[in-house]
Amino acid sequence: MQRIEDLPTPSVLVDLDVLESNVRVMQERARAAGLKLRPHAKTHKSPEVGRLQLAAGAAGLTLAKTSEAEVFASLGFEDIFLGYPIFGADKARRLLALSDRILLAVGADSVDGAKSLGDVFHAAGRRLPVRLKIDCGYHRVGVAPEAAVAVATRIAELPGIAFAGVFTHGGQGYAGRTPEEVAEAGHLEGRVVAAAADAIRAAGLPVGEVSLGSTPTARAGMSQRGVTETRPGTYVYNDFSQVQLGSCRLEDCAMTILATVVSSPAADRAVVDAGSKTLSNDPLRPEGPGHGAVLGRRSRLARLSEEHGVIAVEPGEAFAVGERVRILPNHACIVSNLHDSLVAVRNGRVEGRITVAARGCVQ
Ligand SMILES: Cc1ncc(COP(=O)(O)O)c(C=O)c1O
Repeated sequence: MQRIEDLPTPSVLVDLDVLESNVRVMQERARAAGLKLRPHAKTHKSPEVGRLQLAAGAAGLTLAKTSEAEVFASLGFEDIFLGYPIFGADKARRLLALSDRILLAVGADSVDGAKSLGDVFHAAGRRLPVRLKIDCGYHRVGVAPEAAVAVATRIAELPGIAFAGVFTHGGQGYAGRTPEEVAEAGHLEGRVVAAAADAIRAAGLPVGEVSLGSTPTARAGMSQRGVTETRPGTYVYNDFSQVQLGSCRLEDCAMTILATVVSSPAADRAVVDAGSKTLSNDPLRPEGPGHGAVLGRRSRLARLSEEHGVIAVEPGEAFAVGERVRILPNHACIVSNLHDSLVAVRNGRVEGRITVAARGCVQ
């Protein structure tokens, strides 16, 4: 079996013991809270990891794009929620074809968006399950909570649509500067989505799933009354931002990048062979310098160009040309999307590959 030391660099490594533990722990948390876990597979985009999640008890997967659902459906995944406001007849025709093969539901936050899908399903004598997205304070997509009843009622009346519930995403938890602020985002996520579900029910419309979730807010959000489903994604691998946010410990991070120091031109600067093609320029959350941590050191990656990762060397540290380092990325999901496959490792040995089958699926 190949040893980690013999791998070419840069290589993205996933520690299987840590990955399996992360999958188990989140599943157990959801089970204890009485919720379904429908992990967002955007983090791994991988059939191997998706199967691990289902085997542990996940109800199905969440994805964003129609093409991601097509890839996962072709690999045998049978229950997918697209938590994204999909628009248009072209996408609707693809969703219709997918609905012949799998259990599919999608998100919407407008009557126009839902109608653009419903028209195609109606013409085919079918109905597409749609969940209404509620904005719980992230202010990206989603209807304002006070508009939920009106929009849900109009969506439910559309031909070709089956109103299937509500969902929200407390992405503002990523800006939380203390564990308390992150937890408050999770409590708010739960309160807002459960209240929207109550109001819609009170207006006479049955509500199926009441869904929320992100990795930082997962724990707090799960404790809210009236919620039925949680959708964290990043927890499978975790990353430096999750450590900073207090969502996990350093030892819960499954993904690292093995890189080689290729230049050490100054006492305060060293360069590794992993740049933005490997790692991405994503900032550290909630805030902080650099584009990744060097494991076992205080120095961080300060600057990335395509093939160069520039380490700002902290006083008292040094990096020798040829030395291998492990980098903890700021954002694991982006790293997955940059690679066809990741190297699965256990106890210092290579066990196989994790295929990123749905990488680059944007349509
Ligand atoms: C709609 C939706 N649900 C769930 C998630 C998962 O959140 P996280 O990556 O924090 O685990 C995301 C992430 O962007 C999302 O957009």
